[in-house]
Amino acid sequence: MDDSGLSRRIHKGGSLTWALSELARDFIRAHVKPGHYTLETGSGASTIAFLEAGAQHIAVSPDAAERDALLEEIGLRGLDAEKLDFRVGPSQLILPFLPEDLQLDAVLVDGGHGFPLPAVDWLYAAMRMKPGAVMLIDDVDLWSGAMLVDFLKDEPGWKHLGTPNGRTAIFRMTAPFELKEWTDQPYTFARSKWRQRARKVGNFADLVVRGEFSTALEKVEKERQRAASGS
Ligand SMILES: C[S@@+](CC[C@H](N)C(=O)[O-])C[C@H]1O[C@@H](n2cnc3c(N)ncnc32)[C@H](O)[C@@H]1O
Repeated sequence: MDDSGLSRRIHKGGSLTWALSELARDFIRAHVKPGHYTLETGSGASTIAFLEAGAQHIAVSPDAAERDALLEEIGLRGLDAEKLDFRVGPSQLILPFLPEDLQLDAVLVDGGHGFPLPAVDWLYAAMRMKPGAVMLIDDVDLWSGAMLVDFLKDEPGWKHLGTPNGRTAIFRMTAPFELKEWTDQPYTFARSKWRQRARKVGNFADLVVRGEFSTALEKVEKERQRAASGS
């Protein structure tokens, strides 16, 4: 069926550019197989692509009008509305309460784009993805999405498959999901270690300037012990 006007029909108060790009929707249609379990934050043309691929699909959006317009579109296209589980509400309130054993095959993060929503969506979706599953993150030209992409590119357990149009980053999760401490996250660690050291040197200098030499030496000794123990 012709997709022109699809986004305008679904996002009535929104904009045509809201729709996930044709390229990214083609990726969904090619990679999602009938019976796959899938999830997206936000809804729209992408929801239709997941249903066209035959997925058992959850869409999470606060806009009930989008759900109603989608149900109408699904009817017009002869798609199976039973395969869509549309949850009306903001993803930050809905995702934490989804069943923990979902075993998702594919996820699209394209709901709220303000900080930290893409990262919040990533966390709760990733916890429910199975190894080998793919995640698409849309609008990664926005900082809130770009920071997540930069983090994942350095993170073991995630493989960057590409970013078509510079807009939709696609990752494969290659290992079971694990939320690590910052010292075990290469991206976080690399961007934190010098800031942390600078702060400690600054605190040491303050103590010396104030003449609190024994406290300053105690701190140095503690750091020496911490470095020796590798903690
Ligand atoms: C860019 S549009 C999504 C476009 C859609 N993927 C498509 O292909 O047409 C952003 C979506 O996020 C939804 N949204 C806004 N804030 C949200 C939130 N906190 N949680 C989930 N969805 C949200 C909007 O209602 C809208 O559906």
